[in-house]
Amino acid sequence: MMPCITYRNASVEFVDEVYEPAEDSFLLADSALAFVNKGMKILEIGTGTGFVSVVIQANFEVDLLATDINPHAVRCASDNGVSTIRADMFSAFKPAQCFDMIIFNPPYLPTSQDDKVPGWLNYAFDGGADGTESLRRFLKSVGSHLCPTGLLLLLISSLTGIEQAKYWMEEAGLETEVVSKEKCFFEELVVLKGILKAKPKENIK
Ligand SMILES: C[S@@+](CC[C@H](N)C(=O)[O-])C[C@H]1O[C@@H](n2cnc3c(N)ncnc32)[C@H](O)[C@@H]1O
Repeated sequence: MMPCITYRNASVEFVDEVYEPAEDSFLLADSALAFVNKGMKILEIGTGTGFVSVVIQANFEVDLLATDINPHAVRCASDNGVSTIRADMFSAFKPAQCFDMIIFNPPYLPTSQDDKVPGWLNYAFDGGADGTESLRRFLKSVGSHLCPTGLLLLLISSLTGIEQAKYWMEEAGLETEVVSKEKCFFEELVVLKGILKAKPKENIK
């Protein structure tokens, strides 16, 4: 039998090649539950086992789609009941395809060539040399996939740099707020909420 985690009415199986849900996953899932409403159109990027999405689906009727670059994760999340496609970031979506909520727990560990984990599991951890590569790539595209009143929930570690992440989110056109935080062994985890800044009104003659 596969190992399984039960959490907030959800039951999630996990496999070796896929990120095992941990404190970051739990914090993000709890934050999502605080903001989800029935009927929302939700996208989770990098779903892993599908943990966060499964928790949402166990508690709300939503229209949820998830992606992961790791084919084992796509299979695992699908087996856990999450509609999941294999894609690199937003590559599967047209630029104007928008969601009411986008969720991402990015790989964030600063990783040199020597630190890389063998196989697909490396994608769960490897944030590039300074830990911020995936985050920066994600922020370049996220704005065009949020509906006008849409909401981004992003898990950030102090290892990535919380103030730096907030700055980049603001630069990407998002009003940013910390909605939850937790100290873990060697890091602080926060969930940042982002909403699109209102466009300045054009002068009316
Ligand atoms: C830290 S894990 C989080 C997994 C899960 N969301 C959770 O919270 O338990 C990061 C996930 O992002 C996926 N990932 C990394 N780079 C990606 C990319 N460019 N596009 C899609 N998924 C990616 C990894 O395969 C991994 O499953």
